[in-house]
Amino acid sequence: MNFKLPARKKIALLPTPIKKPIHLGDQFSPHQIFIKRDDLTGCTLTGNKIRKLEFLAVDYEKQGADVLITCGGVQSNHARATAVLAAETGLKSHLVLRGSPEEGRGGNFFLKQLVGAKVTFITADEYRDQRNEIMEQIAHDYAKQGQKAYIIPEGASNALGAMGYLHAVSEMVQQWKELKVRFDLMVVPVGSGGTYAGLLLGKHLYKLDIEVIGFNVADTAEYFVNRIFEISQEVKRDYGLDAGIKKSDIHIIDGYVGIGYAKSRPEEIELIQRIARENGLILDPVYTGKAMYGLLEQLKQGNLKKYKNILFIHTGGIWGIFPAEDLFSK
Ligand SMILES: Cc1ncc(COP(=O)(O)O)c(C=O)c1O
Repeated sequence: MNFKLPARKKIALLPTPIKKPIHLGDQFSPHQIFIKRDDLTGCTLTGNKIRKLEFLAVDYEKQGADVLITCGGVQSNHARATAVLAAETGLKSHLVLRGSPEEGRGGNFFLKQLVGAKVTFITADEYRDQRNEIMEQIAHDYAKQGQKAYIIPEGASNALGAMGYLHAVSEMVQQWKELKVRFDLMVVPVGSGGTYAGLLLGKHLYKLDIEVIGFNVADTAEYFVNRIFEISQEVKRDYGLDAGIKKSDIHIIDGYVGIGYAKSRPEEIELIQRIARENGLILDPVYTGKAMYGLLEQLKQGNLKKYKNILFIHTGGIWGIFPAEDLFSK
């Protein structure tokens, strides 16, 4: 297929390495879980969001943006990445965050404050029903002051953001050749759907014989199948890439949200601790910890028997572990 990626601004430290399989004990043999270290895209500009922002940056710079507006939870990694990127490039940032300042101490929230992001707190109901209107209103207020605001949707999960993971697939295809490993499964946490959408588009575009499975950390699998399908339709409409994705191609395994978004169960915390001790690999409690927990449970139950070489996409989230410190000392 003759498709050219839109222009990208180099921000992330790429390519991120693929690290050798983690130690998990004989219980999981013959499965091997390799890690694509997208937590190494940068330090404060770390994680999967940076790949998406590389494409959005070209657009907001072209539009002459003065302020970046985006939204997320108080500890949102995406909002932190946006705020840091804005500060780095001399722009302002305005974040619409679900929750209250008391919930947001430390970690990502501290970094948002440190780089001078302006924050508007809203309730969970307002976030669910009106976040886009609230961001529009804020943009309108900036316009009245003669400033151009650029709205980045939740998780930068739109058609342009998904290009970040389409690009990541082209990077990985090269790495797989060098590693001489035939991966049969890619696994990724799903929070707003853009990362999964990009990976699936990449699989179709490059005709890869690999399964892509997502573990949702909020909402339901049904919600994300619809959302990811929508993103793939937006990509077709806006960029002319018809990857032929059907809803039945989108595989999200539900059941590992646990006690709620950004809330942890002791078994998830124990797993993060064990992987950290035995591998020196730090997963985060909100995204990668839950997806890894889901993956290992599925392997134990024998549901993913046919996959041997598994590539777990470590999407970052390191700053989200600090506000959860108390959970680890229990
Ligand atoms: C660390 C981390 N991993 C995974 C995700 C999920 O990615 P996506 O929003 O593209 O589904 C997010 C954000 O939502 C995140 O911050």
